[in-house]
Amino acid sequence: MYKTIGIIICFIYVVESRQISQTEASVPVNDTEEYSNEPKIISRAEWGAREPAGPIEDLPQYPPPYVVIHHSATPGCTSQAICQSRVRSFQNYHIDHNKWNDIGYNFLVGEDGNVYEGRGWGKRGAHCPKYNAKSIGICVIGNFTSQEPNLIAIEVLKDLIAFGVSKGEIKENYNLIGHRQGSSTTCPGEKFYDLIKTFPHWQSNP
Ligand SMILES: *[C@@H]1O[C@H](CO)[C@@H](O)[C@H](O)[C@H]1NC(C)=O
Ligand SMILES: [Zn+2]
Repeated sequence: MYKTIGIIICFIYVVESRQISQTEASVPVNDTEEYSNEPKIISRAEWGAREPAGPIEDLPQYPPPYVVIHHSATPGCTSQAICQSRVRSFQNYHIDHNKWNDIGYNFLVGEDGNVYEGRGWGKRGAHCPKYNAKSIGICVIGNFTSQEPNLIAIEVLKDLIAFGVSKGEIKENYNLIGHRQGSSTTCPGEKFYDLIKTFPHWQSNP
């Protein structure tokens, strides 16, 4: 009898302490940009990138003080297989049609919850001429004119930026802008642009 009660009490104790540690693990230490969730970055080799058509310059201004947000203005993707095929098609278009040396963005984010490596950290992108030398350009795959990216993509985008800051790949007090603030374009789409205006580092007057 006492043995049974003892086992039950032990069991409750174990379950309870497990719940407490799970809760602690998922609650951020504070609400600053401190990196907590490392995003999953699908490497170029994994998504089947082509070799760049020419050399890719290092970022002249490093670490970059800007993050420039884009959308692809294409259908989105919620599986890795489809996202990878979209990323390959962007790379083909940027190299074959635009005559750039590689895919223009530093990173892409899919609504599948993955990050796709473009030019990567520390490299000059081709995505927003006024800012290419001093920014990390991130494209969320999809058309966000009349809808926001899904919650996973938004979370992963924030995680990627925080991760970049934690690694010293993005300046700590960086400014975040939408592509339309640097070029004449509707990118990153009306709804998504409205959303990024609420991000803490968004700069109204870059
Ligand atoms: C993006 O979506 C908007 C509104 O849904 C649509 O009018 C526009 O044609 C789409 N853009 C592209 C490039 O498909
Ligand atoms: Zn853009």
